Amino acid sequence: MKEQDFIPSTYKKTIEKGDYTWSSPSNIALVKYWGKKENQIPANPSISFTLEGCKTTTSLRFEKKINDNLFSFDVYLSGDKKDDFKPKIETFFKRIEVYLPFLKDYHFVIETSNTFPHSSGIASSASGMSALALCLMSVEKALHPEMSHQEFNQKASFLARLGSGSACRSIEGDLIVWGAHESIEGSSNLYGVKYPFDVHSNFKNYCDTILLVDKGEKLVSSTVGHNLMHGHPFAEQRFKQAHENMDKLIAIFKTGNLKDFIEIIESEALTLHAMMMSSMPYFILMKPNTLQIINKIWEFRQETGLHISFTLDAGANVHVLYPENEAEPIDGFIKQELAPFCQNNHFICDKVGFGAKQL
Ligand code: PMV
Repeated sequence: MKEQDFIPSTYKKTIEKGDYTWSSPSNIALVKYWGKKENQIPANPSISFTLEGCKTTTSLRFEKKINDNLFSFDVYLSGDKKDDFKPKIETFFKRIEVYLPFLKDYHFVIETSNTFPHSSGIASSASGMSALALCLMSVEKALHPEMSHQEFNQKASFLARLGSGSACRSIEGDLIVWGAHESIEGSSNLYGVKYPFDVHSNFKNYCDTILLVDKGEKLVSSTVGHNLMHGHPFAEQRFKQAHENMDKLIAIFKTGNLKDFIEIIESEALTLHAMMMSSMPYFILMKPNTLQIINKIWEFRQETGLHISFTLDAGANVHVLYPENEAEPIDGFIKQELAPFCQNNHFICDKVGFGAKQL
């Protein structure tokens, strides 16, 4: 598929008004996307677990208006009008207008809420942008009912990517690849695809407990961070490494080798932050408690032989990843030993999920 293939031909149906609701999850990358080209094209391929519990639910009400060549919409978060969200959505609408030419025909009311606290430091852009893209796709489906399920999901992912890159990995589950990789047929820079190969049962229902180390607003946005990969002294080597790590994960998913899995994902997390620390300007998103937690995880793994591991997003929070059959002792350890490093002892227990749902 090429970008032009997502431009629809004239719609056969018309529709006056309607209302759609989607719930879409967050996702956590195992091989990280960091660095992009124009039009949200990733500099390297990435793969993520879709989450189950951390979700955004978005309702989109729409009613026909005179096409005055303007976007018209209101946004609410948990019932409160959020005019400060409007510029981001307006930018998104501008980017996707060519692919959804009906956008200026309607007034939209976007009502959104997250299952996780808004100020938790958990990025809501992946779940939020994917939920909105899915609602808009429901409008397109009403105008073009012949669209297949596969076309619907592919275009939803394509549009979500234009809102926030990683959002394209939130439409389906449980493992999603985004970015062209030579070993993964069908992988694309334009949208996420389901991981197509065998996955060992060790990875079924994999747990992700998110430790909320810092609930504040990020000091450096991911947009700024991605852009700092242009001219970064280690960029080319890093992009190459991401390709290699994807290949290594293919073998690991097949055999279920958790020791090797941990090595790749922890290295990916630390490399992501190493890229931030070695960009110009340089910056650090980890906090002292992020490092305390990482050290505690390493100690506990050494002592017990359990397969507890961590990954990081572009922030201070820690995602603790572990297999379902080791959840009991690890959950106890998290509660006793890691929660004290979280803001107000706050952590969220989640696990791998299967993608967005229409409500
Ligand atoms: O989707 P963005 O632009 O917020 O970038 C997300 C980047 C990371 O979360 C750090 C990595 C990833 O692949 O999700």
